[in-house]
Amino acid sequence: MIRLELENAVIKYGDTAIIKNFSLKVESGEMIFVTGSNGSGKSTLIRGIAGLLPLSSGKIFRAERVSYVPQVEEADRNFPATVKEIVLTGTQRKGKLFYTQNDKKLAEKFMKELGIFELSDSKIKTLSGGQLRRVFLARALCGEPELLLLDEPCAGLDAESHKILFGCLQKILEKGCAIIMVTHDDSDLEGIKNSRVIEMSNNHE
Ligand SMILES: Nc1ncnc2c1ncn2[C@@H]1O[C@H](COP(=O)(O)OP(=O)(O)OP(=O)(O)O)[C@@H](O)[C@H]1O
Ligand SMILES: [Mg+2]
Repeated sequence: MIRLELENAVIKYGDTAIIKNFSLKVESGEMIFVTGSNGSGKSTLIRGIAGLLPLSSGKIFRAERVSYVPQVEEADRNFPATVKEIVLTGTQRKGKLFYTQNDKKLAEKFMKELGIFELSDSKIKTLSGGQLRRVFLARALCGEPELLLLDEPCAGLDAESHKILFGCLQKILEKGCAIIMVTHDDSDLEGIKNSRVIEMSNNHE
């Protein structure tokens, strides 16, 4: 099943095209790694796929349930929420006004998988960068995405958390989710079977 299809997509800031005639087809269960130097357009591509930036031209088809974790958390760390509360917001669907027992179970499951369950009642301002990153990942997974967009999710993760993250991603790939992940770390590219690498280049006009 197709989770994403881009056909000759162009994404611009002002007059500068960062993404030029870009085509990509991603099937369920596939992992796409996006690499390339700083400024080559990796985050721009991911934001375009997430629907946060418009295409200047070209076509896009994307799965219905898409979760996106941005490169740098723009969350206000002083926001008076706990880990559990942030993770639960990932379960929200249009028109739903409360969390069901099932939502709570899902949040608990992903907090456990990502090793942040013990932090459930901690305020987010007390977390380390790597812990906060895992909170946002757990939140994204609670949306039960068909397409998961991760912009440098491993930055700031120690070896153990990195391993936990990849285990978690492997599981959701096997369930049919497609993942597009930006990474600078070549060792990431080895770990997943059904994967491809896209290298972005830096010639913007
Ligand atoms: N909001 C914006 N307005 C104008 N230009 C932008 C904007 N955001 C990014 N750019 C430019 O677009 C280009 C691509 O940026 P982008 O953030 O997509 O790169 P990247 O590959 O994600 O880099 P990094 O590895 O540093 O995260 C850069 O030249 C950048 O200066
Ligand atoms: Mg980036």
